[in-house]
Amino acid sequence: MSWTLAQRAHKMNPSVLRELLKVTEQPGIINLAGGLPSPQTFPIEAIAQATQKVLTEDGQGALQYAASEGYGPLREWVAADLRQQGLTVQAAQVLITTGSQQGLDLVAKVLIDAGAKVLVERPTYLGALQAFAPMEPQIVSVASDEEGVVAQDLRTQAPGARFAYLLPNFQNPTGRSMSEARRAELIQVAQGTGLPLLEDNPYGDLWFDQAPPAPLSARHPEGCIYLGSFSKILAPGLRLGYLVAPAPLYPKLLQAKQAADLHSPSFNQRIVFEVIHNGMLTSHVPRIRALYKAQRDAMLAALTREMTGLDVHWSCPQGGMFVWLQLPPALDAAALLPQAVKAGMAFVPGSAFYADRPQHNTLRLSFVTADRPAIDQAIQILAQLLKAQA
Ligand SMILES: Cc1ncc(COP(=O)(O)O)c(C=O)c1O
Repeated sequence: MSWTLAQRAHKMNPSVLRELLKVTEQPGIINLAGGLPSPQTFPIEAIAQATQKVLTEDGQGALQYAASEGYGPLREWVAADLRQQGLTVQAAQVLITTGSQQGLDLVAKVLIDAGAKVLVERPTYLGALQAFAPMEPQIVSVASDEEGVVAQDLRTQAPGARFAYLLPNFQNPTGRSMSEARRAELIQVAQGTGLPLLEDNPYGDLWFDQAPPAPLSARHPEGCIYLGSFSKILAPGLRLGYLVAPAPLYPKLLQAKQAADLHSPSFNQRIVFEVIHNGMLTSHVPRIRALYKAQRDAMLAALTREMTGLDVHWSCPQGGMFVWLQLPPALDAAALLPQAVKAGMAFVPGSAFYADRPQHNTLRLSFVTADRPAIDQAIQILAQLLKAQA
């Protein structure tokens, strides 16, 4: 039997990364490669109680098919929460998605034709590149510095682009954030050129010392689609996120959602609403921040201790889950990974996060999944490996 694949299937990323990372899951490896939140932060007891309550009070409703837009009270909650962050949003603009990853997929389906230009940061979130790829866009990565895309290059690339995909807070993979001034510049470009923005913000709540500046969508609501997620503040296994779209775009995204999966699990939506509607996140999220901040401090301290004398540079994230390393220019992180795994630790080679012209001497480390002694040990292993290359 020979199956003829659709053209778009050839565009689906085989993920060299996934193949590489399979080896990192061997027992005994300190895995700083994963993008997983710390399981210590999952509110298991609260979810157990909420599940019981949902089943007892309206089990039939919770287990029935439901509206594609999402569970009304949860949409209201999301809209109210975003209004507190400065967004002008009504519940009618909120679409509950199966993770924000589905938001990326729906936007891709609705806005990208084959050959259409889409702008991304350099580097950017690999999962977005994977979501966009089947629509066969021409992905253009915009020059970026430690604050994300550079406004002038965004302006140059804007003509004809369907949208720019931007991660203003504690970006995956670099951990970088956009300053107030950069946000203002980018909004000026978007307004001046008519460039639509797709703002992805799964890490915005995970700040350490200071809340980030207001989202781009708060400054230019009619020109932005906003993606949010419950994965990093509750649990990714719930598979719940949301998108906020300007009113004219919403019906098309809703139709794409209906076609994709009818609706996100209504049972999970009700559980999440039950868990959060009484203000649970106001104590829960600060606990995640405190844990992740201590983990970040441990990783930065280990890097400072172990990497002295090596031409290695790293980001100092003010939130989120990732540190980004730049190795000496001659080194290729992907080539180093098998040796690192053999020695007992794993990272993600940075090349995976570039739409084009990868910078091979970069890598991503997660500081949230391994405990502090393991972080110390892993950074020691990495430093020894780099010393051996010097
Ligand atoms: C930048 C970014 N966007 C979207 C996602 C998808 O998250 P989820 O689908 O779990 O909401 C992730 C997951 O790691 C991410 O890092």
